[in-house]
Amino acid sequence: MNPPRLFHLPLDRRRLLRSLLLASGGLVTNELHAEALALTPRATEGPYYPNHLPLDQDNDLTQILGGAAPAGGTVTEFGGRLLKADGSPVAGRVIELWQADVNGCYIHSRGVQRGKERDPHFQGYGKVTTNEKGEYRFRTIRPGLYTGRTIHWHLAVNEGETRLLTTQLFIAGVEQNDRDGILQRMGTPEQRLSVIREFKPPTSGSGELVGTWNIVLGETPEEPEERRGRPGGPPPGGPPPRRP
Ligand SMILES: [Fe+2]
Repeated sequence: MNPPRLFHLPLDRRRLLRSLLLASGGLVTNELHAEALALTPRATEGPYYPNHLPLDQDNDLTQILGGAAPAGGTVTEFGGRLLKADGSPVAGRVIELWQADVNGCYIHSRGVQRGKERDPHFQGYGKVTTNEKGEYRFRTIRPGLYTGRTIHWHLAVNEGETRLLTTQLFIAGVEQNDRDGILQRMGTPEQRLSVIREFKPPTSGSGELVGTWNIVLGETPEEPEERRGRPGGPPPGGPPPRRP
């Protein structure tokens, strides 16, 4: 597998740091030498965070414990590291994943798309704790497409009871990405690029997909209203319409 790609500050910020270095005769702190990573942008939680959690909540969503069959759909693995902006790993945080099954349905009482049925073999939700290197991994499926959205995974990072980040992950090359209102409102162009990842078969002929994704945390925990809309809370005049 290719090493995870990291995203760096734009060139003009690097030039600024370099000129500061020259102006100070080289006497700048190490923090100024370090190039900060782009923070993973926040995104709405959407309406389908599970309102009933499955008994099996491990990080392999393709197989329910004791289940008779694997989930339908294209098996897809992704993982990477949870980092601070300075690149240092963040251990011991719980990363949650929830997503649509192959039919575009969620494990939520209102998460079944019209005319569709939930895949009873798909776990729909899972979680994993980052190790001492900040690493995490999920084995799941390529999410199903449903009306009004592009293909996406929902993820959240938690420290105990505190939600640090709610975000969404996307697949490069999916036609609907360019029209997805939630994706197009996420962060800066550089931050947006960081949540659209390449997924490829690990070996030629494999029917599975693999991708890497590093999650970069800011310093401030998320406010509850940020989960349901744009960062900073709803605009005056009421919250924006929530889309799944
Ligand atoms: Fe969704």
